[in-house]
Amino acid sequence: MATKTKSKVAKPVRRASPPKARPVAKARKLSGEVYYPSKKVIEQARLKDWDKLAKSAKKDLRGFWEAEANELEWFGKWKKVLDDSKKPFYKWFTGAKVNIVHNAVDRHLKSYRKNKLALIWESEDGKDHRSFSYFGLNRQVVRMANVIKSMGVKKGDRVTIYMGRIPEIVFAMLACAKIGAIHSVVFGGFSVDSLAGRIEDSKSKLVITCDGSFQNGKIVQLKSIVDDSLKRCPAVENVIVVKRVGNEVNMETGRDHWYHELLETPIADGKCETVQMDAEDPLFILYTSGSTGKPKAILHTHGGYMVGTYSTLKYVFDIQDDDRWWCTADPGWITGHSYIVYGPMLNGATSFLFEGGPSYPEPNRWWQVIERYGITIFYTAPTAIRGLMRFGDSWPSKHDLSSLRLLGTVGEPINPEAWRWYHRVIGGEKLPIMDTWWQTETGAFMITPTPVVPLKPGSGTRPFFGQEAEIVDEQGKTVGDDTEGYLVLKNPWPAMLRTIYGDDERYVTQYWSKYPGKYTTGDSAKRDKDGYFWIIGRVDDVIKVSGHRLGTAEVESALVSHPAVAEAAAIGLPHEIKGQGIYTFVLLRAGKVASAELAEELRQHVATHIGPIARPEEVRFVDKLPKTRSGKIMRRVLKARAQGLPEGDISTLEE
Ligand code: WTA
Repeated sequence: MATKTKSKVAKPVRRASPPKARPVAKARKLSGEVYYPSKKVIEQARLKDWDKLAKSAKKDLRGFWEAEANELEWFGKWKKVLDDSKKPFYKWFTGAKVNIVHNAVDRHLKSYRKNKLALIWESEDGKDHRSFSYFGLNRQVVRMANVIKSMGVKKGDRVTIYMGRIPEIVFAMLACAKIGAIHSVVFGGFSVDSLAGRIEDSKSKLVITCDGSFQNGKIVQLKSIVDDSLKRCPAVENVIVVKRVGNEVNMETGRDHWYHELLETPIADGKCETVQMDAEDPLFILYTSGSTGKPKAILHTHGGYMVGTYSTLKYVFDIQDDDRWWCTADPGWITGHSYIVYGPMLNGATSFLFEGGPSYPEPNRWWQVIERYGITIFYTAPTAIRGLMRFGDSWPSKHDLSSLRLLGTVGEPINPEAWRWYHRVIGGEKLPIMDTWWQTETGAFMITPTPVVPLKPGSGTRPFFGQEAEIVDEQGKTVGDDTEGYLVLKNPWPAMLRTIYGDDERYVTQYWSKYPGKYTTGDSAKRDKDGYFWIIGRVDDVIKVSGHRLGTAEVESALVSHPAVAEAAAIGLPHEIKGQGIYTFVLLRAGKVASAELAEELRQHVATHIGPIARPEEVRFVDKLPKTRSGKIMRRVLKARAQGLPEGDISTLEE
């Protein structure tokens, strides 16, 4: 010990320049269009040697995740890092006691972060601003938690949250987690059918909503959508309504309560314990569209999800104490859960939440916000980039974007043209773009670079530490370089879904049966000879519309609920801005006549039932749908026909 101290004092290391950081990857020559990280980026990055960490995590998966978990606080430590005795029902940090809110909020109150901004919010019209230090955030979460508890909600109960992008949605999520209730957030852009189905399936007793939300200057009547949904969900006992837009709403006595009135009662005051949970206790469910049937509830847990979101954000976006992080997603999707709320707060970061969209009232709105708040890391979706790119460079160039130091994208493949625009115009040709591939099911980034990894436009580069991905054929055999196949993940990871809530069997068949021992992602992809992954798209009946995940089955069942429709099929086709658009084929009931007006009515019908994001681009009337002899619609054939492509193997076609 003494010698060590002595040598430290005696031999100061003098360097003319900072230590030379050489990511090993740079030594290799990569093929194609490659963007190497600048010296400045490498100097700034917390993790300089990607290869070294990747190698050690590959050798010792448990060791890697255990070290990550040790950076957070636990009420009681785990007996096992990973229990894989009941595959594919993996368990992480078994025996440990924890609560994600203890790490996302409570623990910061003991440090200087108590006074650091946790959340900054701006309204759509730019006239309202609210910000909360970690101290202030905790106050809000405690008050909301006390109110939720007063409604009889207990550990393990489900609470549906259906709101606009306002700070109270964050408080509501954290408040549920704090008391051990399971939150089920439903995207505020969904409508009656989607909301009712999710409330019913989750058996929520409480719904938290707002009177309305703003969208492009118009009011979305959230409360009346809740009212309509609850006609089908009599089990809901209470509704908490946050006043946001100040419109007239129906309040049902005994069931509906204004949040601001509850806050004025003694109920809200006083302390609220953060409940000690088992690491494997449920944190939330989030409904997402699968290959068939109704949306399914993906279940995430306190311990593993916490470690996964903490660690991925730390390494991939290199979150530092003075950063101002902005993820433009909606809290109602997994991206908002993991990277507006939990990931940033677990890292003690400042997270920015914006109520509005990218181009209202004008296409400079986001760039204005970056300048106004000094955003340093900006994370958005390719569809938004393509949409904004269309308005030209003059909008971003009106604003000083020099606070930015890192960029990111998520949700769908980014086309190289959009990547280059983002890189050149928003990133000034200097900022690395983290193209993060992941899913509701994975909870956290899975295939992603970190700032020191050389980038190729359109590729998410390589799997995150501890993960290995593979491209396989129908039989599960690994395919060669640059060959399209199914993307599978080989290793378990802490933030993985634990099951489909209430349907263990579907969890096994959906994700683990096609290639035993491997997780089926539902995506097709290629791997190049540098080991970089290139996502092509979904191979199942999921459509990514503007990065939003929808199922063909949802659109089809909305269509057949219209009295004129006998049968319907929906497919996703390439769309310049949205990535994919929804195209539908409709067979009318006898006596109904096809017309442009009816097509328009059906498009509107889908928007009213599911939500405006599901509005089909086109409704085409047909006499017949291609089906297999067992009666399954062959969407693959419809897709090929619509694009004028070969129809492939049609031996099972009924005609
Ligand atoms: C797609 C969103 C290409 C993919 C976090 C995946 C991506 C689905 C990327 C999951 C990306 C997500 N590049 N495709 N960077 N990120 N996807 O559950 O098809 O809404 O399977 O989660 O989005 O969508 P989800």
